[in-house]
Amino acid sequence: MNDFPDGFLWGAATSAYQIEGSPLADGAGPSIWHRFSHTPGLTANNETGDVACDHYARYADDVRLMQALGLTAYRFSVSWSRVMPSGTGAVNPRGLAFYERLVDALLGAGIQPCVTLYHWDLPAALDDRGGWLNPDVALWFAYYADTLVLALGDRVPLWTTLNEPWVVMDGGYHFGPLAPGHRSLFEAPLVSHNLLRAHGQGVLAARAAGARAIGLVVNLEPKYPASDQPGDLAATRRTDAYMNRQYLDPVFRGEYPAEMAEIFGDAWPRFAAADFDLIRTPIDFLGINYYTRGVMRDAPEVLPLRAERVPQRQHITTETGWEVYPDALAAVLEWVRDRYGDIPLYITENGAAFYDPPHAIDGAVEDPLRVAYYRWHLRAVRDAMRRGVDVRGYFAWSLLDNFEWSLGYAKRFGIVHVDFATQLRTPKSSARFYSEVIRTRGASLGQ
Ligand code: FCB
Repeated sequence: MNDFPDGFLWGAATSAYQIEGSPLADGAGPSIWHRFSHTPGLTANNETGDVACDHYARYADDVRLMQALGLTAYRFSVSWSRVMPSGTGAVNPRGLAFYERLVDALLGAGIQPCVTLYHWDLPAALDDRGGWLNPDVALWFAYYADTLVLALGDRVPLWTTLNEPWVVMDGGYHFGPLAPGHRSLFEAPLVSHNLLRAHGQGVLAARAAGARAIGLVVNLEPKYPASDQPGDLAATRRTDAYMNRQYLDPVFRGEYPAEMAEIFGDAWPRFAAADFDLIRTPIDFLGINYYTRGVMRDAPEVLPLRAERVPQRQHITTETGWEVYPDALAAVLEWVRDRYGDIPLYITENGAAFYDPPHAIDGAVEDPLRVAYYRWHLRAVRDAMRRGVDVRGYFAWSLLDNFEWSLGYAKRFGIVHVDFATQLRTPKSSARFYSEVIRTRGASLGQ
């Protein structure tokens, strides 16, 4: 029996700033990530995306590589400041032309292009005007979405507005390890709300411009209590609201979780009721990024969530310290279906950083832990599908080793190894494993 239906998308994912390099080429404007990574001390070894995987120049080879692996879909993001150097107004035709070439190359190779409009690289010019804190960002984003869909909508079957609004808020404005690096309890809820408003306006604009399907990508990390003590249960509930329900409840139910006011206290604003009509504009599908779970305990001193993670040393952990726990992927897919309804789902990211050497050894990179990670998580997706969850595709994170934000190049998530000294690409064992899964449509996963 074949568990993965015809038309199931077998993909890999990347994002613009993490792979493209040449961030200012051909008239592009700087993004907040360009600015952030060029500020000394903010990224590991002061690494930047100046070169990254040089995909801007090597995209055609990379598409051939995807074709050789048998991928049927590719999820990438567009750099807003390539296409609109100042974030609004004039379009830079040479920037847009890069994405036209990429989309055409993908289609020519039989690979479905899945476009993320925003994967964290806000034009710096918009940050100068307040970035995600300025309520006008919703209109800036809608104009950008409209421009992209008018240009590429005839060739792109799947669009998503934002990648991981939670990370934009939490990493960018609340705790600050990611661009633009703010640390403010008061800014965090305003940013979340503007992200959601921008998402809603973006959906309306993309649909009006003819997008065939438009959705949102969230990262979900199921929370489990460290014990059944009431304090641990409450800590689990708060972190679950903050990370897993903060965006989905407004989008699907038109309200924030009650725990948000409990977490943010005086920093939690009163939002206009009319905003929720925009935010809950129906979407065509939901993209879920899944990496790990969180086991939580009560920690009154850790503000504002009063919760902390309990390390699970009995399981494998990745190079980013994330526990490998595939059961939570199956569970979260069922949870989404049960809580938010039977909307088509895509796993838009799933993968792991494990140590790989900087250079291939005798032409090969053996990564047995990553192979196991993919085997277990693909089986978990299959389990959820057997229980009736409508999963339409799966995207490995990532196609290539790349610039892992403030962690720099040391954390390798690729199924294809990149030698950053030479730009040589070497498919790892995990790429060969995934190819075989695709070729056999899942049969090689075993039971
Ligand atoms: C996700 C991001 C992606 C990458 C992976 C490891 O949160 O969307 O860009 O950083 O984590």
